[in-house]
Amino acid sequence: MLIYKFALIGYPIKHSLSPWIHGEFLEQTNIRGTYSIVEIEPECSFSDEMMKLKEGQVNGFNVTVPYKEKIIPFLDEIDEQAKRIGAVNTVLNKDGKWIGYNTDGIGYMRALHNHYPNVMNELNLNILILGAGGAAKGILHALLQHGYYKITIANRSLERAKQLAKINETIQVASLSEVEDDLYKYQLIIQTTSVGMKPNYLESIISLQSINEEAIVSDIVYQPLMTTFLKEANAQGAAIHFGHSMLLYQAQYAFEIWTGKRPEIGTLDNELKKILEG
Ligand code: ATR
Repeated sequence: MLIYKFALIGYPIKHSLSPWIHGEFLEQTNIRGTYSIVEIEPECSFSDEMMKLKEGQVNGFNVTVPYKEKIIPFLDEIDEQAKRIGAVNTVLNKDGKWIGYNTDGIGYMRALHNHYPNVMNELNLNILILGAGGAAKGILHALLQHGYYKITIANRSLERAKQLAKINETIQVASLSEVEDDLYKYQLIIQTTSVGMKPNYLESIISLQSINEEAIVSDIVYQPLMTTFLKEANAQGAAIHFGHSMLLYQAQYAFEIWTGKRPEIGTLDNELKKILEG
C-alpha cells in the first residue's frame, strides 16, 4: 500500500500550520502518509537541498517564502496559472517529474465563495484589492478567471500597482489615500498585504471610515485573526472574512493535486480558528 510523503519547504517554517492541516486531511480521507517540515536556511545551497528532496522521493510538497520563485528552474513542468503568476507554492511529483502549481488565488476564491456563496454569481461586484505583491497577483488572476471585471488595485507604490494592472485593460489603479476617500463604491475589499500582522497588531493599511456597510471585507492576515482592519470593518457594520480560511482552502487544493481526493473543510474551519486564537 502506498504511503504518501509530503513536505513543506521554506524559511522560517517551524511554526507552520500546514502539518496540522494536512494531517487532518490524511486522517479524514483514510490516506496513509506523512507531511514533514523541511526548513532550508537561506545560507544553504538550494540546488543541493532540491537534489536531496528528489532522492527522498516525496510525492508532493508545498513551497513558501522565500522559495516560491527560486523553485521554478527545478521544475519539469509548470501549470498555466503558476506560470502567469510567476510563483509556485505546490509541487506534484508525477512519475519522477516535478510539476509546479500556485494554489493561492484558487484557495482564496474557494474560501470566499464558501463563506459568501451569493458572491459567486455577482460578477459585476465592484472589487478593491489592497496591495500589489505576490498574494495580490494570485488573487487578482483568480478573480479575473472567475469572471469578475470591476477591479481596482490600490497600493503604497503606485508604480507596482500599475505594473500588476497591465494583466487586463479593465483594471483600475489608485493610491491608498484616493480609495480611502471613495471607499463606499466597493462591495468587496481584499487586504492582501502583511500590514497588521503580529507583532504590528495596531497597524491598518487604510481607514475604513467611509466604507459601505453592505460591503464584504477580507483580510488575508490570520495572525491575529481579528486584525485592526477587520475590527474597524466590523464596527462599521460590514461583513468580514477571516484570513485563515484561505490557508485551509489552498491546502485543500494542494491535497487534491497530490492525491486526487478533495477533503472536506467542515469543522476544520472552526478548529483552526481556535488554534489561532490560542
Ligand atoms: P507578498 O508576496 O506577501 O504579497 P510582497 O510581494 O513583498 O509580499 O508584497 C508586499 C505588499 O505589501 C506590497 O503591496 C507592499 O506595498 P509596496 O509595493 O508599496 O511595497 C505592501 N506593504 C508592505 N508593507 C506595507 C506598509 N507598511 N504599508 C503599505 N503597504 C505595505
